[in-house]
Amino acid sequence: MRKISVFDTTLRDGEQSAGVNLNFEEKMEIAKQLERLGVDIIEAGFPASSQGDFQSVKAIAETVKGSSVTGLARSVQKDIDAAWEALKSAEEPRIHLFIATSPIHMEHKLRMTPEQVIEKAVESVKYAASRFKHVQWSAEDASRSDFPFLAQIIEAVIQAGATVINLPDTVGYTTPQEIKRMFQYMKQNVPSIDKVSLSTHNHDDLGMAVANSLAAIQGGADQVECTINGIGERAGNASLEEIAVALNIRKDHYETETGLILKEIKRTSSLVSKLTGMVVPNNKAVVGANAFAHESGIHQDGVLKNKQTYEIITPEMVGVSSNSMVLGKHSGRHAFKTKVQELGFTGTDEQLNNIFKAFKDLADKKKEITEDDLFALMTEQTVGGETNHYELQALQVNYGSNLTNTATITMKLPSGEVAEEAATGSGSVEAIYNTLERLLDAPVKLLDYRIQSITGGRDALADVYVQMDYQGVVSSGRGTAHDVLEASAKAYLNAVNRTINRKKYAEVYESKVEV
Ligand code: KIV
Ligand code: ZN
Repeated sequence: MRKISVFDTTLRDGEQSAGVNLNFEEKMEIAKQLERLGVDIIEAGFPASSQGDFQSVKAIAETVKGSSVTGLARSVQKDIDAAWEALKSAEEPRIHLFIATSPIHMEHKLRMTPEQVIEKAVESVKYAASRFKHVQWSAEDASRSDFPFLAQIIEAVIQAGATVINLPDTVGYTTPQEIKRMFQYMKQNVPSIDKVSLSTHNHDDLGMAVANSLAAIQGGADQVECTINGIGERAGNASLEEIAVALNIRKDHYETETGLILKEIKRTSSLVSKLTGMVVPNNKAVVGANAFAHESGIHQDGVLKNKQTYEIITPEMVGVSSNSMVLGKHSGRHAFKTKVQELGFTGTDEQLNNIFKAFKDLADKKKEITEDDLFALMTEQTVGGETNHYELQALQVNYGSNLTNTATITMKLPSGEVAEEAATGSGSVEAIYNTLERLLDAPVKLLDYRIQSITGGRDALADVYVQMDYQGVVSSGRGTAHDVLEASAKAYLNAVNRTINRKKYAEVYESKVEV
């Protein structure tokens, strides 16, 4: 079986999804989970784009040892230097350089001739290769490039020291037949092609990113670039879980294998969905809530007689648990610790104590604590590291179908003072948000509000996601609580606190470079 390397770009291309802004702790948590999932390479960010990206790429490179860590750089010295500073402590420093090669990008975006593009690509690869052991070079918009020109520039960058060549379908334009042909063409027409690995990177604008990735593998790609849940720029990237499971279930056809631990897929998907606020549709292949639900009577009958009649993937294979009760009110500390460690918890004793306390509080209100509940409590602790400038102390809501709804809130302000306010609204959530706004120093425009239950059952935990414009910054926030109104208030304040924290890096964010 041919081994296919999995290059995950959730933290770089995935983070370019509209409305997604992960903080340092969230990126670290996702990187650790990607390592558990067994991805070969983690693209942790774009170090030259902002101080925040630089710090998180550096910390991930220093922490993650089971996967190779890389960072993106344009073909300029300053980006390569920033990437080196961020990645030099990684076990095998790896850089991802790119420059556009399609006529439309060269003429209108770069305003460079093809010869100038070759010169710049060669110069930057040489400079990068003088530092990095692994230099991945990407021909942005490769699928719309002229193939003979592409072959020429690829040969030149291999001679300059590139070790991996990536041929992206940047705008999601190509088809499976065309991309397979592109890889075959390069294999036949680039003299030094056997000295490097070939990589594929596909966007989903026409809904073909996964199909194109699989076709590229058939055409000779040794590495596949993807994101968890397929998040990413515009319609997103090829989704890792779909490629991983397709290659596994259809090994007879593709004759390849990956080093992924498939049973970590569901947890990775849930973590990324929760931290990015990008909800996974119910009908999404592999990780959607209905991916293993059989609704028609004929299907149910078939599955009861023999699962394989309608089930080609087992839920267990990708780590979808039956989600039955795992712990209850009487569970002791030892059982609790064993369970959270099984779920991948590697935090500090203080965090463990806090999760245990939150678990006990929840167990008083909810009869059965499931793996999903525990995972939610764990995530709250491990990524809840935002400095809380505003802190909710007490919330009371007076609701009636024929009443004016009123919320009264006590909150700790950034000055340390404790203030109390009340306001009305046409519903409970509006009353809470109107009250919170009165306690803040600037108006808030709520752009999105979404609520989900973590498990089934009327006593389920609620997970609220909000996106807002506060102090001229668009930020998102999350809140988990047993009560939907408390979760709503927490999500709102989380977004406010995140904005204030981000503002501290204002000058850096303003200079953020877009890819
Ligand atoms: O889609 C793309 O072309 C990219 C490159 C930066 C590799 O993301
Ligand atoms: Zn991309």
